[in-house]
Amino acid sequence: MNTERIDQDKIPKKTLSSGEKIPSIGLGTFGSDKYGAAEVAKAVYGAVKFGYRLIDCAQVYQNEAQIGEVLEQLMREKVVKREELFIISKVWNDMHDKVHIACRQSLKDLRLDYLDLYLVHWPFRNYHAPGCDVNYRNPDAKPFSVDEYMETWRQCEELVEKGLVRYIGMSNMTIPKLEAVLPLCRIKPAVLEMELHPSFQQPELFDYAVSHNMLPIGYCPLGSPSRPERDRTKDDVVDMELPAVVNAARAHGVHPAAICLKWAVQRGQVPIPFSVKEHQYKSNLTCITEDPLTEEEMEAIRLEDRNCRLIKGQVFLWNGAKGWEDLWDVDGKITGWD
Ligand SMILES: NC(=O)c1ccc[n+]([C@@H]2O[C@H](COP(=O)([O-])OP(=O)(O)OC[C@H]3O[C@@H](n4cnc5c(N)ncnc54)[C@H](OP(=O)(O)O)[C@@H]3O)[C@@H](O)[C@H]2O)c1
Repeated sequence: MNTERIDQDKIPKKTLSSGEKIPSIGLGTFGSDKYGAAEVAKAVYGAVKFGYRLIDCAQVYQNEAQIGEVLEQLMREKVVKREELFIISKVWNDMHDKVHIACRQSLKDLRLDYLDLYLVHWPFRNYHAPGCDVNYRNPDAKPFSVDEYMETWRQCEELVEKGLVRYIGMSNMTIPKLEAVLPLCRIKPAVLEMELHPSFQQPELFDYAVSHNMLPIGYCPLGSPSRPERDRTKDDVVDMELPAVVNAARAHGVHPAAICLKWAVQRGQVPIPFSVKEHQYKSNLTCITEDPLTEEEMEAIRLEDRNCRLIKGQVFLWNGAKGWEDLWDVDGKITGWD
């Protein structure tokens, strides 16, 4: 593939409830553990040059300062204008009571005047701060609470009112938690970022998000094959080896990664695949501009759903949580981890 740059008109768009159109795919940036912040930032530079416009960042990924340098460089070199980018960041769990400080730090690091979208990364507070051992156990960690979540959300609403962020959204929520907080939101979430890949399609939550005007953004769209050991269990399914994915890859003459991404975009979610490898991040964008999956292929992949959650939240299990199920609501009951 020798294309130097993808024509923006060729990239499918998704529409937010405001009517604004955003790219139907973005670049993930959680990978500094494996590759280092400079390498991730270099990929952001190359990816934006190639045609990516949506970048999924977070303060806890510990690379926003390096990404900020390349964003500034890209604008200085007139590769892209600020208003052509859609930059996401997220408030980490240790900053729920200081959202303004967290957001201003992300803006400073990313060298931006505003963020396009700011997410509450996880729906509960804990104090696993960047740089800490992720298995750090803190006696002050607390379960999900509607009141605390709304305190955090109110601060996010103020960020919109102050013009620091254009949209706010939620991540890692469940239907019972959304049912509890949505009626209380003055500014409704524009998106729901959630784990979505062929073996974990979350159809009820996906439909709930769409019917409540939240655009689903799908993380781990390739099944996160390089995720850290702490996020692995022996029962995890390998998405890129699922029969329907492999069969479609053969039929289209592409890598299974391309099938996962075509499926995601055609289903209606915004996948945010991560890669620092030039041939991978380029083909991840190119693939969605060509040769769509057939209805039969879409249906075959739909049937591969195995309810296989990969990011189970093991790193948050402390202070009485009996298992990762405590983080995800069971049988419609909000469990948090209390
Ligand atoms: N909101 C949240 O709580 C949350 C949670 C998790 C992730 N996220 C976001 O979602 C993004 C994506 O998740 P993820 O990085 O865990 O999973 P992913 O995108 O499903 O998988 C990324 C890995 O897939 C491999 N890959 C990428 N493109 C490929 C290609 N074309 N062919 C073959 N392999 C390919 C790469 O492995 P190699 O590195 O080995 O090449 C890469 O590290 C993150 O970076 C982050 O921005 C958000």
